[in-house]
Amino acid sequence: MTIKEALASNNPIDDITISGWVRTRRDSKGFSFLSINDGSCLANIQAIVDDGIPGSESISMATTGSSIKLTGQLVESPGKGQSFEIKALEIEVTGTADDTYPLQKKGHSQEFLREIAHLRPRSNLFGCVFRTRSRLAYAIHQFFQEKGFVYVHTPIITASDCEGAGEMFRVTTLDGNQTDKKDDFFGKPTYLTVSGQLEVETFACALSNVYTFGPTFRAENSNTTRHASEFWMIEPEMAHCDLEGDMDLAEEMIQYLIKDTLQHCAEDLELFGKFVDKGLLERLHSVSDQAFQRISYTEAVKILKKSGMEFEYPIEWGINLQTEHERFLTEEYFKSPVTVHDYPKSIKPFYMRINDDGKTSAAMDLLVPGIGEIIGGSQREERLDVLMKNMEENNISKKDYSWYSDLRRYGTVPHSGFGLGFERMLMFVTGVANIRDVIPFPRTPGSADF
Ligand code: 4AD
Ligand code: MG
Repeated sequence: MTIKEALASNNPIDDITISGWVRTRRDSKGFSFLSINDGSCLANIQAIVDDGIPGSESISMATTGSSIKLTGQLVESPGKGQSFEIKALEIEVTGTADDTYPLQKKGHSQEFLREIAHLRPRSNLFGCVFRTRSRLAYAIHQFFQEKGFVYVHTPIITASDCEGAGEMFRVTTLDGNQTDKKDDFFGKPTYLTVSGQLEVETFACALSNVYTFGPTFRAENSNTTRHASEFWMIEPEMAHCDLEGDMDLAEEMIQYLIKDTLQHCAEDLELFGKFVDKGLLERLHSVSDQAFQRISYTEAVKILKKSGMEFEYPIEWGINLQTEHERFLTEEYFKSPVTVHDYPKSIKPFYMRINDDGKTSAAMDLLVPGIGEIIGGSQREERLDVLMKNMEENNISKKDYSWYSDLRRYGTVPHSGFGLGFERMLMFVTGVANIRDVIPFPRTPGSADF
């Protein structure tokens, strides 16, 4: 039985077996107290091991970090701090840990724990983070499945650069001496995907409401707390949907995910609220209930200009909003999540729908306090002639992307979608400030350990 199940039973159990890792041991005359955690929940379970029970001769090996199996009874605890504890009838130390075990009882910094990413899931904080990560992934599928969206597995190896930013990792079997691309494994240059959008669009233009959710790779050399070279992205795509409907879905999804986390990860969130981000729970409750703000890019620029703030990147119509601008809008000005829409077309990729003004595209970014951009999306250009012109202007090969323009050639429909950065969402619900601390084994420029 897991510790979570045992504690949830809230009743004595006559015959119980618990396996886990020893957090602490305290020896008294005639017996020992063990505090054990198995990762099923934040709480440890306390066990009383009397001298003389089978296996008790090895109690001195049950040091911090060792693994242990206990059989006994779950009984009401006379002590403070827990309502139930285990009265062991048999104990087995399954794996010892000597005093070089790095996770001793005192708290450790997140930086230190990052260096021992193979052991950090055993710490309270990272146990909470990765249980929440698991639940969040489940909630995402639940949200889309409840709405009847079809889950599509888009390829990880691809020949296309969706975002047109050239931030792709090459996938090749050529060694340094072979230069002819035709000799390469796929007979042409291939890369790790930066987004499943283009491929998922083909499915939206057949199955109507779809989503992809998978690993994504970007070779951007930005060493920030919000960028990883390998991250996960959720990309829904809806046929017969305009930008308005796209923003509606994005906001509904964020609120759904927060409510789900509040409901199913309460114990973990409590720890984040205590030790990571004091304002977390209040913020999550307010974001899950209140309507989000919406403004156009042009309005956002006006607000930023009037703010009197000294930004590192001076604000001017036409520039891409930087994190400092985004955070001012969501944290200082609106004090709530805000969706900015209709960006200048010159700073957006070729696939976005051009608005009637000819200057802006039907793009949107959803910004949240503490992070900035968490979602980027758009209505897609469904008019063949306009798309062709966009491709030309963005130097996109019409031949290589003919399959993409075919969607406009045969039964085109207005359609829209967006991408949610999974880790950014996880940072938002946990309050964890560095993306490296919500990824089991983070990959960032200059770092691919484990
Ligand atoms: O805004 P982005 O680049 O949008 C797209 O890729 C579109 N193709 C999505 C779509 O319309 N289907 O990325 C979407 C989100 C960002 O808002 C951000 O949350 C996250 O992906 N993201 C990253 N997360 C972590 N590390 C990085 N390097 C990220 N780059 C983007
Ligand atoms: Mg973006």
